[in-house]
Order: sequence, then structure tokens, then C-alpha cells
Amino acid sequence: MRIKYTISIFFVVALVVIEKENNIISRVTDKLSSKQAPETHFSLTLAEGGSSTSLSKTGLTYMMKRHLENYGEHPEMVRRGRKHILLLATTRTGSSFVGEFFNQHGGNMFYLFEPLWHVEKMLTLETGGTNATVAAKAYRDVLQQLFLCDFSQLESFIEPLPVDHVTPSLFRRWSSISLCEESVCSPVVRGVFEPYHCRSRRCGPINLTMASESCLQKEHRAIKTVRTRKLDTLRPLAEDPRLDVRFIQLVRDPRAVLASRMVAFEEKYKNWKKWATGADVPIDEVELSKLKGNCDNIRMSAELGLNQPSWLRGRYMLVRYEDIARFPMSKAAEMYRFTGIPFTPQARFWILSNTQASKKTDGLYSTQKNSSEHVEKWRFSLPFKIVQVVQKVCGPTLKLFGYKSVSSEKMLLDKSISLIENKVFNVL
Ligand SMILES: *[C@@H]1O[C@H](CO)[C@@H](O)[C@H](O)[C@H]1NC(C)=O
Ligand SMILES: *[C@@H]1O[C@H](CO)[C@@H](O)[C@H](O)[C@H]1NC(C)=O
Ligand SMILES: *[C@@H]1O[C@H](CO)[C@@H](O)[C@H](O)[C@H]1NC(C)=O
Repeated sequence: MRIKYTISIFFVVALVVIEKENNIISRVTDKLSSKQAPETHFSLTLAEGGSSTSLSKTGLTYMMKRHLENYGEHPEMVRRGRKHILLLATTRTGSSFVGEFFNQHGGNMFYLFEPLWHVEKMLTLETGGTNATVAAKAYRDVLQQLFLCDFSQLESFIEPLPVDHVTPSLFRRWSSISLCEESVCSPVVRGVFEPYHCRSRRCGPINLTMASESCLQKEHRAIKTVRTRKLDTLRPLAEDPRLDVRFIQLVRDPRAVLASRMVAFEEKYKNWKKWATGADVPIDEVELSKLKGNCDNIRMSAELGLNQPSWLRGRYMLVRYEDIARFPMSKAAEMYRFTGIPFTPQARFWILSNTQASKKTDGLYSTQKNSSEHVEKWRFSLPFKIVQVVQKVCGPTLKLFGYKSVSSEKMLLDKSISLIENKVFNVL
């Protein structure tokens, strides 16, 4: 773990040095890197204190060389009409489904599914979490590069390290149509195990130089992530003159999210369940503070976005999972209108065939049943005592997003009362 950490920190430092030399970075980022210098220094000390790993001089030269190879020239200013969409969500909010709205755009969109998975994994500490400050900075920097079709910083977080920009380990490659296109498909290599191999065609390990070239050809770029916690940490992206970013924040009723988590991570919530049924066990404080932390971060990001500070004006949209589940087509159209990208027939078709009453709907995202009922199904699985806990911890969040709190178990189970208030969020 420490070695991983040291190596990644090393790369951050190496990149700062190289980027300076190469002068790839715009004036804006130049300004920023002077601010970041003390942080980098601190990280280094941290790494030195934590581990005695030292990199040999040849190793150093090798790694620097790896990053000296540029990924094509980046124009100084954003190309007219080119859009960069960041879909920000948390887990269990239907973000994979909403990501498909852009993944399925067809032709002119370069879409990446959770590239920050690698970054989080690399920065995970022995406690199981990450240092939020360090992670936020790494996430932002990697996102900024990816929007410019530059994979070099992401590469430094991929394990094992890609060789000549080629890796069999890119997380969920198959979730991105762009990464499985003909132009990004290298010949199959025998004997190489690829956990995330393309499903649409047989390809060898991904060559990220090819991915980058393909990305540069595309008109628009979209990335979906559940890892960025706070919108304010992304301000440099909004202010980067090479980018024209649109942030779409996807939220969901925290009570429903918890109900879903309790099914998915049963073991973690064993004590919660016991507690809810009256057993004399303490409720897990760690999970409780995580819940509060998540609710607070989501709310603060949304408050910031809805307040429309000048750097975010026209760049922020809030979307509720519940509205997408109930009105997928009109919500998708709204999202496309907001981004300024044409809503293609391909994207419409995908939404139609994946939301209509059809044989192969898999429950989770189907609107087959009465969808208003479906999005409120959690009310019948989450014990009232736990609902009360969430309402207490996440009260302001529920209120902001228009999720009605319940005052009794009777109200919770009363189907005639919907807990989703109609709410319009975007004053554009
Ligand atoms: C995270 O790292 C920063 C500096 O990089 C440090 O100031 C801070 O104390 C760390 N936070 C935790 C919780 O360790
Ligand atoms: C990766 O793709 C680039 C661009 O097409 C090519 O020049 C390079 O040789 C490829 N790398 C490998 C290891 O095949
Ligand atoms: C769906 O369920 C909601 C809430 O229970 C109800 O108000 C609505 O009339 C139902 N719609 C249909 C088409 O059954």
C-alpha cells in the first residue's frame, strides 16, 4: 500500500516537473501549480516518512520518459461547440443508466465510465478510505487531462503500470462504447487475461495512445464518476479556457440509497437491522458518520450549483433519479438541451428500448410497472426506525431535493402519499 502511495506521489511530482518543462499547461494551470506546490511538498514528506522505498535513477529516467511522450497537441482554446460533460453522482443513484444517455449518443461522443476508479484504488489508505484532500486533487487533475484526451496521469494510477501505453486492466473498458470502437481495437494477444475486455468485438489490451487519438477526433466528451465528492474542487475545470464543461449532478433520496445499500452490502448493515428490530446493539457509528458525510457533501455541492456563482453560471444542472425513472425521455431531452448537444435518434432509441415495458427489463431501471410506485418501493423495505435516523442525519438534504420526511410508520407505508415533491431546480 505504501509503495503504491509513494509511486503515485512520485508521479504527481514528476508530472509537475515535466509539465513545467514541456509547457503544455495553460496560463490558468500555471497559476494553480504555484498554489499547489506546498501540498505536493507535504505529500512527499508524507511518503518519505511512511516508506523507505527509493526509486533507482534508471527507474526515474524511465518513468519520466514515459510521460515525456505527448498525446498530441492540445489547442489553446476550446473548439467552438465542443462540450465536456461531467456526470457527478454517488453510488446507487442510477448513474450507470444515466451515463448511457451519453454513451449511446452515437458517433460523435467520447464517453468514459468511472476512470477515477483507478485513482481511488491507488490512493486507498490502510484505513480503507482515502485522504479527501489528496484524492480530490488527483481526481480533478485526472479529469482535466482526460477531457483533453490525455491519459498520461490516469496511466500512472493503473496497476500494473501500462507498458508503452498498453494495458489489459482498464476498469470496465466495455462500459464505454468509445473504447471498444474499431479505431481503438488492437489485435487480440493470446494468453493475456483481460478482466474488462470488449464485448462488442474481439480486441486486444487497450492501447491508450489509440484511445487518445480517437478521443481527439470526437466532437464531445463525457465522463461519469461517483468519486468526486465536492463540486467546488472542480472549479479549475470550469475555468480552464480549453474546456467548456457542463456539470450534471445526479441525486437520489438518501433513504432509498440506504435501502439499496442494505441489500447490496448486507454484512455491513447487520447491526442496523438488529437495532431496527429492537435488539440492544449500538448502531454502527462509522456507517452513520459516512451517511452524514455523504448527505452533507451532496447537499453542499448542490447548494453551490444552484446558487450559480459566476464560474458555474450555465454550467450546472441538478437531476433527481426519481424524475429520470419516471420520465426518462423528457429528462434526457432536458439534459441534452442543457448541454447544448443534439439529442440523437440513437440515444432516443436506446432510452426507448431500455425503459419501455419490454420482456427483458431487469427491474432496477424498468419503468414497466407503475414507475411512481417503483421509485418509492424502498418505503416497504426500510424499517421506520432507520428511516428516522436518515431523516435526522440528512434532514436538510431531503428538504433541498424535495423528498418529504415521514412522521410516522403509518405515513411511511401509506401509498396514497407520495414522498417525492414536484420541484424545478434549474434556473438557467
Ligand atoms: C490529508 O493530507 C493533507 C495534505 O496533503 C493533510 O494536510 C491532511 O492532514 C490529511 N488529512 C488526513 C485526515 O490525514
Ligand atoms: C499504440 O498505438 C500507437 C498509435 O496508433 C502506435 O504508434 C503504437 O505503436 C501502439 N503501441 C503498441 C505497443 O502497439
Ligand atoms: C401509480 O401509482 C401512483 C402512486 O401510488 C398513483 O397515484 C397513480 O395513479 C398510479 N398510476 C397508474 C397509471 O396506475
